[in-house]
Amino acid sequence: MAQIITLTVNPAIDKSTTVAGMSPNTKLRCAEPSYDAGGGGINVSRAIRKLGGTSLCSYFAGGPTGEFLKKLLTEQNIEQSVIPIEGWTRENLAVTDTTTNQQYRFGMPGPPVKEVEWKSALTQLEQRLHEGDYLVASGKLPPHVPEDFYLKVGRMAEKKGVRFILDTSGEALMEAAKSKVYMLKPNLAELGALCGVASITDLDLKPLAQQFLERHDCEVLVVSLGPKGALLATKNTMEQIPAPVVHQKSTIGAGDSMVAGMVMSLIWGKPLSDMVRYGVACGTAATMHHGTQLCHKEDADRLYDWIKGQKPI
Ligand SMILES: Nc1ncnc2c1ncn2[C@@H]1O[C@H](COP(=O)(O)OP(=O)(O)OP(=O)(O)O)[C@@H](O)[C@H]1O
Ligand SMILES: [Mg+2]
Repeated sequence: MAQIITLTVNPAIDKSTTVAGMSPNTKLRCAEPSYDAGGGGINVSRAIRKLGGTSLCSYFAGGPTGEFLKKLLTEQNIEQSVIPIEGWTRENLAVTDTTTNQQYRFGMPGPPVKEVEWKSALTQLEQRLHEGDYLVASGKLPPHVPEDFYLKVGRMAEKKGVRFILDTSGEALMEAAKSKVYMLKPNLAELGALCGVASITDLDLKPLAQQFLERHDCEVLVVSLGPKGALLATKNTMEQIPAPVVHQKSTIGAGDSMVAGMVMSLIWGKPLSDMVRYGVACGTAATMHHGTQLCHKEDADRLYDWIKGQKPI
């Protein structure tokens, strides 16, 4: 049976806490923090677990924080394949001000990754992947990893007959788009960067997606549109799926929950039109909870039923 492998090159420990009022130059007394394993691919693996699936979660980790990350993922019953690095895994911080309910998110840079370390990630992945598998890479590249790293990963996946799904941004995304990719999941800004335009209006979206597919070897393009849902584009189809309106608590991990929903749908053998609907359902489900909880399956399933009852735009 096809397996899902996720790849996280820039994982993090996500530390969340609350404070009653944010003000500068004073000591802010925070509540007891909670800790979560974070970073693109790790979030995808966590969301897959919540949706009842399994994946092999492959990630760079180093130092005591890397050990802590392993522990957090083990507690969540996530199968892991660690690529050891010398640098210490980063810690991010999210602080919610309870007086305004505003959240402040502080992201740290990842540790630099040496050439020998990122090269060993490629070797390790190559050994673990089999024909028909899905490889999901999500997240930005950490310092010192070359911009064409995901391009290298994509080429290796293609050689192995593995479907490569990529959710990243910037130069790394532009480079990766030069080779065959099964599915890309840019948001609007990322699609704009891919197409070389500063901003995209509703009128430009479908023609730009079409143009992108004509010029690149990408089978499926899913453009996520935040509260407006997503656009599914292939060489033959173009469909926009609205997102349901929900009580929104936090958008952390919406994109990764969406990717998890889509890859699970593919594993279940669903067609692409169902895949994107389940992706939107899972992305929206993630926004219904505070913090880094990601999507809950019962919310995702209810939202999916609602979406299935809607006419495409
Ligand atoms: N405010 C919202 N209301 C409803 N659904 C939302 C909202 N924000 C996001 N979503 C859902 O999550 C999906 C992915 O969100 P979005 O387009 O914001 O991804 P992203 O920009 O990649 O996010 P991330 O910051 O997680 O990388 C959307 O397609 C939608 O289904
Ligand atoms: Mg994203």
